[in-house]
Amino acid sequence: MGRFYITTPIYYVNDAPHLGHSYTTVTADAIARWHRLLGDDTIFLTGTDEHGLKVARSAEEQGRTPIEQADETSARFVEAWDLLDISNDQFIRTTEPRHHAATQALLSKAKENGYIEKGTYAGWYCVGCEAYYVEDDLLDGNCCPIHERPAEWLEEDNYFFKLSAFEDRLTEWLTADGNVVPDGKRNEALGIVKQGLDDVSITRSSLDWGVPVPWDPEHVFYVWYDALINYATAVGYGADDASFADWWPHAHHVIGKDILRFHCVYWPAMLMAAGEEPPSSVHVHGFLLLKGKKMSKTGLTQITPAQLVNDLGVDGTRYYLLRDVPFGSDSDVSFSSMVGRYNSDLANNLGNLLNRVTTVVVKKCDGVGPAPQRDSELAAVAERAYEETAAAWDRFQPSVALDATWNLVRETNAYLERHEPWKMDAGSAEVAAVLGDALEVLRLAAVLASPALTRTTVEIWSRIGLDGGPADQRLPEAAAWGGYPGGLPVVKGAPLFPRLDAVSEDD
Ligand code: MSP
Repeated sequence: MGRFYITTPIYYVNDAPHLGHSYTTVTADAIARWHRLLGDDTIFLTGTDEHGLKVARSAEEQGRTPIEQADETSARFVEAWDLLDISNDQFIRTTEPRHHAATQALLSKAKENGYIEKGTYAGWYCVGCEAYYVEDDLLDGNCCPIHERPAEWLEEDNYFFKLSAFEDRLTEWLTADGNVVPDGKRNEALGIVKQGLDDVSITRSSLDWGVPVPWDPEHVFYVWYDALINYATAVGYGADDASFADWWPHAHHVIGKDILRFHCVYWPAMLMAAGEEPPSSVHVHGFLLLKGKKMSKTGLTQITPAQLVNDLGVDGTRYYLLRDVPFGSDSDVSFSSMVGRYNSDLANNLGNLLNRVTTVVVKKCDGVGPAPQRDSELAAVAERAYEETAAAWDRFQPSVALDATWNLVRETNAYLERHEPWKMDAGSAEVAAVLGDALEVLRLAAVLASPALTRTTVEIWSRIGLDGGPADQRLPEAAAWGGYPGGLPVVKGAPLFPRLDAVSEDD
């Protein structure tokens, strides 16, 4: 038991939430839920990144003010996260006064410490990325390599952050195990530092949609340098020192690989400049790809979070994202793989187990669930499943964790097939023994799968007669074999995961 502070990137408000954002958010949500099961005092933060040229321009194109744009789009993120049962404790908006204050405090501290100075900057800027590029990184025609649109030449007087002063400390931090995960991404960050770091411009005078620079109000901070600070704002930086001191050592960031440089190089250096420690860890995931291309607004019009929830349910959508996309790698997504995963793991395994067990308990035990056998052959399987599940959640590997939990479900279905309780005599000790074991597995699976399946695990819990809910349990105690007390009313309800028709074509 301890403290656990987990964050998602804060999303730009120029555009609506899509499946890529949902992937990061559902992942962080499930990890937060796992830590709550462990009894950790947990803060889960998400929110929106509302400043910068990209948002200002997109507002202008739509004939509204940046704050109107931010209010409207930020609300859409809140809505999407409600739809996906995201359990964030805070939703931060960078336009909030508390965030302006924290940004100004942190960067003033870095300046006081001698790491911010005035200078002139000229360079190629991509508004889509909100970042400057060196000429060598641009494509033909000076196009941004990500957006494939021409970068713009910008020249301005602004303040520079002395990133170059942190090469050694960053190398040391990046070299230590567990700070940036997985290793491939850590090496990428190390590579950036090894190439040599230039000082970076952190303010803009050509724009006023941002956090004002407190010592020079003609300038606002460049959007990334305000955005990153959201993680510190939310736990009290500059406003509640005790809270910040309590929580900051437990900060874990979940991000996509597109923003590695900012989180694994710039952000730890900014913290060092302000006299703070870097975050406890940064976990970097790959991209969801649609037919090999990064998901974007256009590629995603076919697969929006709302559409998926409509087709697969909240739990079906969450399960797919967590189970099918190995954290750290790029992964192709398609509607047919979603349906395949749903049918095999949810309908045919977990759903089938619940269905069989409740049907036979109703028929052969008068609807009263028997207790498990103390020396069941499934006890060892359950113990291993717990250990593997716990270790994988601890390593931020939801797909491995869920696979370990599902091993227990699969083994229990095989156990039922071997023993065939549906052929045994009603009311016999024999049938009670097999069904008691299977009910115990349903109890365990409901707890272990609850970070992913927020709704159906609650339903399983109540159908097998248990009080409270799986998310109210505490690990590791609740993982010990034998927790199902027996003597509880068991009901057979409608299938939890009605099978979906297979689709032959991917959208
Ligand atoms: N506002 C910045 C982040 C600031 S954090 C201090 C930003 N916002 S974003 O809206 O563009 O969201 C980027 C994040 O969304 C990625 O890092 C990733 O977590 C998620 N994804 C966006 N597209 C994605 C995929 N196609 N696949 C997986 N995740 C993706 O960058």
